[in-house]
Amino acid sequence: MTYLIKVKVRLDANYLKLTNHFFDYFIKPILTNLPKISVKFGGNYQKMKKYLFLLALAAIMMTACQQNAQKSAQSENDAAVITQQDKDLLAQAQLFFKPLPAAAENPDNMITEAKVKLGKHLYFDNRLSKDGNQSCNSCHNLNTYGVDNLPTSPGDNGISGTRNSPTTFNAALRTAQFWDGRNKDVEEQAGGPVLNPAEMGMPSEEVVVNRLSAVPMYVTMFAEAFPEESITITYANMRNAIGAFERTLITPTKFDSYLSGDVTALNTQESQGLKLFIDQGCIACHTGSLLGGTMLQKFGLYGDYTQYVHPTVADAGKFNETKIEADKDMFYVPGLRNVEKTYPYFHNGGVSNLDEAIQIMGKLQLNKEFEDKQVDDMVAFFTTLTGDIPEEVKVAPAGM
Ligand code: HEC
Ligand code: HEC
Repeated sequence: MTYLIKVKVRLDANYLKLTNHFFDYFIKPILTNLPKISVKFGGNYQKMKKYLFLLALAAIMMTACQQNAQKSAQSENDAAVITQQDKDLLAQAQLFFKPLPAAAENPDNMITEAKVKLGKHLYFDNRLSKDGNQSCNSCHNLNTYGVDNLPTSPGDNGISGTRNSPTTFNAALRTAQFWDGRNKDVEEQAGGPVLNPAEMGMPSEEVVVNRLSAVPMYVTMFAEAFPEESITITYANMRNAIGAFERTLITPTKFDSYLSGDVTALNTQESQGLKLFIDQGCIACHTGSLLGGTMLQKFGLYGDYTQYVHPTVADAGKFNETKIEADKDMFYVPGLRNVEKTYPYFHNGGVSNLDEAIQIMGKLQLNKEFEDKQVDDMVAFFTTLTGDIPEEVKVAPAGM
């Protein structure tokens, strides 16, 4: 009799596919107690039957429990069932994209706390503009994903430039800076806007250095940031401090968790959008940890881009500078991190709607027209690239 009971319980356990947890805490103690029962009840068949009945009842209740638990787990999270397609998509995504690093390191400009602190002060300081009307943060507002959401931005003199202000978040990870990639890194870039007449309009490096040297706070901060140098307030050190700060402006998201192996981090529609982004060929240009920011490409492979983005001034990209025919309409492929928030789009900020920007990319770069559902799915995927900006990054340093 004892033998029979054991077999029955084991079969049930198998049938239920009980989790280890259930098996350890519910079934095992029962099984362990069985010999005692057989000793106690001896050959009393009636009592054994009653016990068998109770066991069966417990088994039935547990089956129900188990099934309910499975059902509710399923409805809570439809990604709980991981299919082979899900795994294949992740493997494919891992080939084309990379998770963001914690910071964009530069061996020639080590990130130190003192440098970052100084860089942040400079980033928010209107003293870097001729008439004191603006700072880097005016056009690259850290409270609004590193942009001002205007097609083009007014400079210190109130007159707008001709290109859209790109975001400073994650910009340090680009392999070159600007819409035409004319600067190699954020350190080189940071010196440009200060002297650019259309931006901050300072007359010379010397005037900038003199202005900063007259501020006691900066005398201390530069000395702390560059302890090995005898003359610390220099134009190069200003660039390096701002660059070091920008190297910390990195915005990881659940897409990074996904790329690190968590298949469930994207929901069904987001995964569909990712699949489209790969299958339709966007990855020919938008790859790497930023989904862009690694190469120059012609804007308008299958048509004249000016027909689509309503430019007010002629802009032939890299050609403007080099006058080489092959550089005509060559623009640096923008990264797509936080793209949902960095409207309006394209080098002239001519398109404010993300759906429209995706359709334009389809037409001009791939000769394709997307259905509304496909665009919606890609937009859903793009929302997974929107990071949470920490509060302490958004606010200006005290006194700025
Ligand atoms: C008047 C608005 C304005 C100000 C002020 C300004 N920028 Fe910019 N910034 C722009 C525009 C416009 C571009 C793109 C220009 C181009 O590509 O030709 C740009 C480009 C950049 C880029 C390149 C990003 C990329 O994706 O290519 C970085 C980095 C940057 N700015 C940082 C700064 C810093 C640091 C400061 C302060 C020292 C600053 N900017 C001040 C408007 C501004
Ligand atoms: C052949 C290269 C190429 C392909 C393929 C491509 N893009 Fe682009 N993408 C670019 C370039 C270059 C720009 C910048 C154009 C400009 O503004 O001058 C850009 C800009 C964008 C922008 C605007 C970003 C911003 O901040 O202004 C979005 C959004 C975008 N692409 C999405 C896509 C999508 C979605 C696909 C696939 C359907 C795609 N791209 C395919 C090269 C490409």
